[in-house]
Amino acid sequence: GEDYPHEVSDNMQERNAASGNTGKQAAGEAAAWMVDDGSVIGLGTGSTTAYAIKAIGRRIDEGLDVLAVVTSYQSEMLAIEAGIPLTTLAEHPELDIAIDGADQVDADLNVIKGGGAAHTREKVVAFSSEQFVVVVDDSKMKEKLDHFVPIEVLPYAKDLVMRCVRELGGEPQLRLASRKDGPVITDNGNFVIDASFGVIENVEALAISLSMCPGVVEHGIFTDVTDMVLIGNTDGSVTRL
Ligand code: 5RP
Repeated sequence: GEDYPHEVSDNMQERNAASGNTGKQAAGEAAAWMVDDGSVIGLGTGSTTAYAIKAIGRRIDEGLDVLAVVTSYQSEMLAIEAGIPLTTLAEHPELDIAIDGADQVDADLNVIKGGGAAHTREKVVAFSSEQFVVVVDDSKMKEKLDHFVPIEVLPYAKDLVMRCVRELGGEPQLRLASRKDGPVITDNGNFVIDASFGVIENVEALAISLSMCPGVVEHGIFTDVTDMVLIGNTDGSVTRL
């Protein structure tokens, strides 16, 4: 078959090894090889997906024909730089495959996302796609999810949502751009509340409860949508789940 998958410049590889990014790169590039010619794809956000976007760009240079819907200004810039032609969900409401990173993944393919504050559009794209492929390095795999849950909220509703989180047994924190700056503003013009729940015993129940709180635009728990997880290991190998 095709060359699989590493066609990366040497110093890039060194930098990744030095910064512990080898697993992310391996997973991202493996996902790029899952894209079929003539398909419409969804591009997630974050450093792991960035490797997929760059690798898809290299495949386009070699003749691959795709159209992509992005999930953030970050992935839009990367996709344009990589030469990937863009489209919109309005033009292509049904995608063939979407590729995205995650903050944590369990063995049942439940996922927590939103570390990059892009999870609302990412969830829309994931559910619009025939196939949703998650790319992570092996540090993101957990038997039980215990990562904080990013929640995009209407600024108007932030205190109500914080109260909802506390009532659900969580510890809410408004995400700030830095210690001295104001709140992080999402691409949709909203705030993000990071909610710690410790070990999440019932992922689906928490997902439903969070969605019921008025002012929640979208939370970062993805259930029943992931079809495949590509896990990049530190030695550069990829495990498929
Ligand atoms: C953005 C996300 C990212 O996919 C997630 O934070 C993982 O990022 P990275 O690949 O940089 O570790 O959900 O909202």
